[in-house]
Amino acid sequence: MSVEDAWKALADQASGVLPVREMFAAEPGRLEAMSLDAAGLHIDLSKQAWSSAAFHAAIALARAADVAGRRAALFAGEVVNVSEGRAALHMALRAPTDETWSADGAPVSPEVQKTRAAMAAFAEGVGSGRIAAADGRAFEHILHIGIGGSDLGPRLVWEAMRPLKPKIGLNFVANVDPAEIAAALAPLNPARTLVIIVSKTFTTAETMANARAARTWLETALGEPDAKAHLAAISTNLEATAAFGVPADRVFGFRDWVGGRFSVWSSVGLSCACALGWAAFEAFLAGAAAMDRHFVSAPLERNAPVLMALANVYNRDVLDRRARAVVPYAQRLRLFPAFLQQLEMESNGKPSRRPSAGVVFGEAGTNGQHAFFQMLHQGSDIVPVDFIAVREAREGPPDQQAMLLANCLAQAEALMTGADAVEPHRRFTGDRPSSMILLDRLAPASLGALIALYEHKVFVEGVVWEINSFDQWGVELGKALAGRILGELAGGPAALHDPSTTALIARLKG
Ligand code: F6P
Repeated sequence: MSVEDAWKALADQASGVLPVREMFAAEPGRLEAMSLDAAGLHIDLSKQAWSSAAFHAAIALARAADVAGRRAALFAGEVVNVSEGRAALHMALRAPTDETWSADGAPVSPEVQKTRAAMAAFAEGVGSGRIAAADGRAFEHILHIGIGGSDLGPRLVWEAMRPLKPKIGLNFVANVDPAEIAAALAPLNPARTLVIIVSKTFTTAETMANARAARTWLETALGEPDAKAHLAAISTNLEATAAFGVPADRVFGFRDWVGGRFSVWSSVGLSCACALGWAAFEAFLAGAAAMDRHFVSAPLERNAPVLMALANVYNRDVLDRRARAVVPYAQRLRLFPAFLQQLEMESNGKPSRRPSAGVVFGEAGTNGQHAFFQMLHQGSDIVPVDFIAVREAREGPPDQQAMLLANCLAQAEALMTGADAVEPHRRFTGDRPSSMILLDRLAPASLGALIALYEHKVFVEGVVWEINSFDQWGVELGKALAGRILGELAGGPAALHDPSTTALIARLKG
């Protein structure tokens, strides 16, 4: 079947469908066909608004779009990021050590293993105090400086996994807003702090500004030579890390075939490896590798990333749902929506022949219930929801975990079933779609599998939407204009702008 015919066949299945709650009775086997287990996660897509016929038409679309062929090309290290001429091989970073991977025909595994071993040694050294501060005493704190993909993944992993009383503290600074670096530095003791600067390019303006501020803070307290012992860098740009003054043995590289938003598995994760311990970081990698094995080998109709992508494509392109909420019922996953905003919107918010990535937003449950759920239940737009729940609590009063889970299931059920009432304000139309992802425990492996699930979902969506999910040209124009306006705010010659921007610059210059 051609792709065009497959799209048409899918659209044809959208009309005349029963409400989802009625489809369970009308379609025997619906729950079994639309729910599955993958890499330790349970995924239930049966409350999505598709009929069984639409579900199968969506799988036929994935076949017609050659998802299996593109998946093979991705895993073979072919140049799937065509606008930048690169492979996208983040899976190689988390693969078992006996596997061999190539990017654009060149073997990468020896270098990946070398970097992994260096990271393990560094993490162990910082943890044990063997790699110490300038005064010979152990580091007590790490300050991780980076933005976008050099921040969101590690920040999420730390929040999800941090011990209640960490031996080594870890803080993040991303925003160029001077308030963030000031707030981060204020409580820290420079003599006990390791600053890890994380930037794939080592040119990102925000990161370099924060890195300079942190270096000055170290140098002021410790003097220039000692400050160097408190710096480490993660980058593909080794010339720039050297020029910044980071000693070569404190620099951990990665390659351009690792996209920023897919880079938490690389040396970008070093601060987490140091603060959580190497064993936890390895388990995180292994969890993602398990999801890779599932994605690359499971048939499309039993493939978790593929089915999640198709549910999203159906909502976005066929039913015209322009936003999706992601609500983790786990406080430790509260940063997951922010992480997904970059993963999904930077990867797939691009020109395409059909509506592509919509708005992703979210908040931890139950907090979201007391904020935007009113609109999810009764608003004029239908907003599909990804619910994420964790069966076992990691900590805290056990009875509260049951309350948390009850709320999660209740919201999904309420969205689907709705409720009749005489008074209009008590009426819920129901038939509002959701997916449910269940983790047994929030552990490094399940977190790795969860992130990899969404990474591959994004890739599959990109294939169906005919998008290169691995570039981000849309961020360039704003960066260039910011550089120009910065010069003007600093007293440089006025450039040509629209009247509004010109007036605002004048006002800010005072
Ligand atoms: O926002 C654009 C972007 O290039 C992201 O893709 C990337 O994660 C982020 O900037 C940070 O880039 P770098 O790691 O090079 O500092």
